[in-house]
Amino acid sequence: MEDSNRSGNPSIHELSYPARRHVLQLGLGSAAAQLFAPWLAGCARPVSGPAGLLGFASVPPSTADTVVVPPGYRAQVLAPWGDPVGIAGAMPPWREDASNSAEEQAVQLGMHHDGMQYFALDGSSTHGLLVINHEYTDDGLLHPGGMGDWSAEKVRKAQAAIGLAVVEVRLQAGQWQLVRPSPYARRTTMSTPFAIGGPAAGHALMRTAADPAGRTVLGTLQDCASGRTPWGTYLAGEENFKDCFSGGPSPTADQRRWGLPRNAWYRWPPHDERFDARRHPNEFHRFGWIVELDPMDPTSTPVKRSALGRAAHEGAWVAVTREQRAVVYSGEDAAFEYIYKFVSRDRIAPGGAKPNATLLDHGTLYVARFNADGRGRWLPLVHGVGPLTPANGFADQGEVLIKTRQASDLLGATRMDRPEWLAIDPHSGQVYCALTNNKERVAAGQRGVDAANPRAGNEMGHIIRWAEDGDFDATGFAWNHLLLAGDPAAPRPEARGNVQGDLFACPDTLAFDPQGRLWIGTDVGARELNQGETARMGNNQLLACDVRSGEVRRFLTGPVGCELTGATFTPDGSTLFVNVQHPGEAPSERNDPAAPRRYSSWPDHSPTGRPRSATLAIRRVDGGVVGS
Ligand code: FEO
Ligand code: CA
Ligand code: CA
Repeated sequence: MEDSNRSGNPSIHELSYPARRHVLQLGLGSAAAQLFAPWLAGCARPVSGPAGLLGFASVPPSTADTVVVPPGYRAQVLAPWGDPVGIAGAMPPWREDASNSAEEQAVQLGMHHDGMQYFALDGSSTHGLLVINHEYTDDGLLHPGGMGDWSAEKVRKAQAAIGLAVVEVRLQAGQWQLVRPSPYARRTTMSTPFAIGGPAAGHALMRTAADPAGRTVLGTLQDCASGRTPWGTYLAGEENFKDCFSGGPSPTADQRRWGLPRNAWYRWPPHDERFDARRHPNEFHRFGWIVELDPMDPTSTPVKRSALGRAAHEGAWVAVTREQRAVVYSGEDAAFEYIYKFVSRDRIAPGGAKPNATLLDHGTLYVARFNADGRGRWLPLVHGVGPLTPANGFADQGEVLIKTRQASDLLGATRMDRPEWLAIDPHSGQVYCALTNNKERVAAGQRGVDAANPRAGNEMGHIIRWAEDGDFDATGFAWNHLLLAGDPAAPRPEARGNVQGDLFACPDTLAFDPQGRLWIGTDVGARELNQGETARMGNNQLLACDVRSGEVRRFLTGPVGCELTGATFTPDGSTLFVNVQHPGEAPSERNDPAAPRRYSSWPDHSPTGRPRSATLAIRRVDGGVVGS
């Protein structure tokens, strides 16, 4: 995982005894919670009160190549990689030897499903759209011969296997099905035009030979987590985009700060020079943004919202102030990077996506500083304010946003342990963030622990939360930790954590359901899975937490090598959709095409197939609310 922040920001903290905040400080949120009257964006109004939040039997850790859910539940596989999305006249069937062409892949579900949201059609909990991020490829599984005979066609197929998918789904006779063909069915690939909105649109640093206006980018890269807006659109974060670019042996200081590698992990540049940053340095600036898509209009052009800043964005999550301004929380999943929020200048207009088409182009971006006393500040990333001046390398607001990391370094933001998903409690208004791990944080010195990131060699990760001072657009907040993940039996004290309930490590996905349960998806990497300090955790899992008591209960265990991600619910809470991403992930992160089933053959278990990421639709047998 990228680690390119060499700023000295932790030195501003007065380090305190970290254990002070390891435990729940139950009183903290209560006063603030009463101030959070507004309903949260995209969160359905709770269907009942928060009593009795965890009503299912915990499942044990598992190392089996299968999905396990509690008694009384059923998990159905839906929309695996390679199945057609349902575009009329273009529904090529999946070929289990991975011999589908690039053109066929472009109209099929992509690889490595990650963030996802359910959009009800006419408010229905039995008929809606799923928007799915296809984050990245395993080229060892994507092509029959893997990366052997690497070719332009293989690059085209990889570029067709990532991006966004929209599928129409319907519940019939207790089973979810894809509606095919569907007028909503859609895929984006690296050939799909995306507009750029906000202060960086048209900026000199965004212009390229292919796009001299600097306003249209082909494709979106490495979309990880997902959010939704109250006006009915989908938000995705471009995360590890750097891995698609080659920078050569002499990167600039700016490129080093953004982790531009010498050679692209995905080996696109030899067949697509746009990703050779030596030849097209500005192309690198055109990724790392939050992307907004209107799933209800299949002809709409998705937009990269530059006002929300550029980062290795995990995703974006929206709250609404009492005055109806949108507040968008985001973070970047890289070691020692930052947490952000954006406050819209204008109020949300009634009437859905069209009247709010530029709402996220105007507003103020802030970066978080977590102080040791349990308080925090949002520091404005505004050109001309504080050190963000031409003398310090920021010509204008566009440059502040393109170089959000460097601006945040100068402001003294807090370097976090890899911020993954955020989630906003629909009852209290508190904001939660999963900090998945950070093995590079050491006990002393410049890269030492701080109050918000209190463990050295943080293999296990933790969940931090905060309450804004009165409303979501406040510039101050109070924070504490929900929990530190770990195993109480671990020999190393800093790996033990303080979880009340079932063991887990490396929280990644977070999502509140309509009733206020916090769902936690884990992502222990294939190199660490079921060994060392995480030996007792089993495969990656999905858990539910009652944030009032802190109790955590394991709900689902996934197949070998997967992570669980993208939990989303129907409005009535009767179906949980969640993605099984990268089943069979290899410790090398790329499978051997000669042995595609070496680690997993989920979900097909075909003797001639290969593992496929897929969506799960999980329901109670009695049709009741999931988790209750
Ligand atoms: Fe794509 Fe940070 O996980
Ligand atoms: Ca993630
Ligand atoms: Ca992760």
